[in-house]
Amino acid sequence: MTNESKPLLSVLQGSALEIPPIWFMRQAGRYLPEYQALRRHAGSFLNLCLTPEWAAQVTLQPINRFFFDGAILFSDILIVPMALGQGLEFVEGEGPHLFPRFSPSLLSVLSVERAREQWAPIIETVRLVSQALPSSVTLLGFAGAPWTVATYMMEGRGGTGFQESLKWVIEEPILLKKLMDLLVEATALYLKEQIEAGAEVIQIFDTWASVLPPASLKDWVYGPTKSLVDKIREWFPGFPIIGFPKGIGLDACKTYQKETGVTALSLDRSVMLSEARQVLSCPLQGNLDPEILKAGGALLESSVREICEAMRGFPHIFNLGHGILQGTPPEHVQEVIKIVREKRHTPCKG
Ligand code: CP3
Repeated sequence: MTNESKPLLSVLQGSALEIPPIWFMRQAGRYLPEYQALRRHAGSFLNLCLTPEWAAQVTLQPINRFFFDGAILFSDILIVPMALGQGLEFVEGEGPHLFPRFSPSLLSVLSVERAREQWAPIIETVRLVSQALPSSVTLLGFAGAPWTVATYMMEGRGGTGFQESLKWVIEEPILLKKLMDLLVEATALYLKEQIEAGAEVIQIFDTWASVLPPASLKDWVYGPTKSLVDKIREWFPGFPIIGFPKGIGLDACKTYQKETGVTALSLDRSVMLSEARQVLSCPLQGNLDPEILKAGGALLESSVREICEAMRGFPHIFNLGHGILQGTPPEHVQEVIKIVREKRHTPCKG
């Protein structure tokens, strides 16, 4: 299979395509009735993630419905702490709970050996999807960045103010560094297994990079991500990796790319793509606002055209600035794909 027939891989190698490849973060999920049906059948989100036949089916749902150019493995970034030995539960309406919270005694029971057995079903999902995908569609594996995964391990749940995490950063950096080293080691192995099973690109989600003061990004975001990228590239030279350091701003994105060596950057909605392409020289992914996708209408149409116009002639993967929101009408996703795949984009009025 040459990359000419895989548009997403071709952009990651630096090609600017007339019609950008498109996929969406959280493209499989609760906005799709077929997801909801299988989710009810599975009983719990974790059961769905850990049953390879079902998780593969969910991964393929948005491909079958919309024919996206990329299929992202259906799983969750919190599978890694769970596999290492921390308790994980997804509580309806509250999101994830991890228990007990990070402490020296938790650190002493976490085990990479154990993790490899525990995440085996996820690797099996990658294998199943890889065998089933149409040949033009690229399979993306993923993991949470060490920092973002560590915040969940320290806070014990999402939606907190991150006081716990910042306390560890400020008061116990040596202990936190031990956790981060373990996460780098485990995540590198986890991604290695995904790649061996058929993942063709890896995305690293650093959703909570923006919680850190800018001066701390080097220690907790750039450094650990670089270690992760270096390990993967030792095993698979030149392997395409997309970094998503959400919310850190354009200047820090530039530093992130330089320091970590990721192939491409996924940009959140706070960045103007027309400015980003002046400052960043790597392929760029993004960055339609998920709220605008959900709302639909004229603003959606003009926003999609604006992004395509801004990125014309530049290696660009069309995506959202963050995951699809629950309650997004699937027809809006279809509409975006239709506009992106029109041959010509007329410039916006005004
Ligand atoms: O993008 C995809 O379609 C692939 C699957 C995927 C999920 N989560 C499925 C999921 C991916 C790549 C993730 C990444 C993830 N998970 C991140 C990083 C990206 C981001 O969104 O910021 C984070 C921070 C998590 C942690 C997480 N998982 C939270 C906080 C929650 C609860 C909030 C929510 O949306 O329910 C989840 C649950 C989750 N992960 C769901 C899905 C489809 C919803 C579970 C359900 O069906 O009830």
